[in-house]
Amino acid sequence: MKTLIKNIGLLAGIVPEGVLRKEGTHMDEVGCIENAWLLVDGEIISGFGPAVGSPLTGADRTIDAEGAIVMPSFCDSHTHIVYAGSREGEFEDKIRGLSYAQIAARGGGILNSADRLHETSEDELYEQSMSRVREMMAMGTGAMEIKSGYGLSTEDELKMLRVIRRIRESVAAAVRSTFLGAHAVPRDTDKETYVQLVCNEMVPRVAGENLADFIDVFCEEGFFSVRDTDRILSAGEKYGMKVKLHANQLSCSGGVQVAVKHGALSADHLERTTEAEINCLRGTATMPTMLPGSSFFLREPYGNAKGFIDAGLGIALASDYNPGSSPSGDMRFVMALGCIRMRLTPAQVFNAVTLNSAYAMGVSDICGSITPGKKANLIITKPSFRSIASIPYLHHTPFIGQILINGEYSYL
Ligand code: NIG
Ligand code: FE
Repeated sequence: MKTLIKNIGLLAGIVPEGVLRKEGTHMDEVGCIENAWLLVDGEIISGFGPAVGSPLTGADRTIDAEGAIVMPSFCDSHTHIVYAGSREGEFEDKIRGLSYAQIAARGGGILNSADRLHETSEDELYEQSMSRVREMMAMGTGAMEIKSGYGLSTEDELKMLRVIRRIRESVAAAVRSTFLGAHAVPRDTDKETYVQLVCNEMVPRVAGENLADFIDVFCEEGFFSVRDTDRILSAGEKYGMKVKLHANQLSCSGGVQVAVKHGALSADHLERTTEAEINCLRGTATMPTMLPGSSFFLREPYGNAKGFIDAGLGIALASDYNPGSSPSGDMRFVMALGCIRMRLTPAQVFNAVTLNSAYAMGVSDICGSITPGKKANLIITKPSFRSIASIPYLHHTPFIGQILINGEYSYL
């Protein structure tokens, strides 16, 4: 099946084959063609060009974009969308003045979600999580990473990861899974005992069922130290899991350094970083990934995104969709926060939520840009959107005209 998209006002996000991420000044460049066509062959982008050269014959189906933007779907490289119930009570506690760390120290937070998850069957967990997957896809996300980390026991972590596998098998969007057993220390357990359980029992079981692409740790004061993190990441690496890390969210805790030591694909959060972290990331394969939805919700700093870019690095932006610190998977809101609160340019946030976020979840060879040979995971916007800047600027104007995932209409 060949699909021609014609009458494209702005084809945005064109990247040459082989470019897997954008860094430094390149973050300000978005490859675009005005008045364009794009051809999809089966699941794959097969060609595009200016309207003068439009191949008006030979397609089985034609979509009229009516002058709108056609762009790659969003890639959301950091989510915790497999969870049970919600944490609205803590939302109210936060409004009354408690911090995220105080709620966690009282036994709420992640432990609260672990209790809910324990009581919820695998089927029910799948249904609840799928409603969030559908919501994200309807807002334009075509690739997502999902973490475990609300199980905190071997059986419940496996339950979460099996749900992620089911999601992966049931949606056309690209899904990658991350084992985050070391998200919090469960009640009535000492940390050393739990770290040993993660390394010696959970990691081998997870690997035995081939349930995780990546391994992650909440490396933070009050959660897991740099030393714990080092051990846990090494345990995962023995089984071929690549590293993504929660680093520098609440303090400058050495998270970035341990992520780089392990050749991490991404170091995520980075609300708190200094020159030392920026220097440490220079010249590495690790994508600094920032999560402004969580800064917004927790009233935390947004981090020094411009500092990374000025130092020649790239950044990715992701939603962190989870019940405690970022109950939203809206990547356009993430773009708007990137512009308004982090002072990134519209071009920089565009690259951060497409190609660079694809890189941060290891899929930028198959999605994240308009490149021949990549998956046809595309957003066709409403015709009122005409420029890159209009996307974060009109941040709550209905945006999605059509969505194609693997070249097919996505009905959700
Ligand atoms: O990325 N910081 C750790 N993990 C999540 C929050 C998880 C939760 O509170 O449920 C985050 O913000
Ligand atoms: Fe997170």
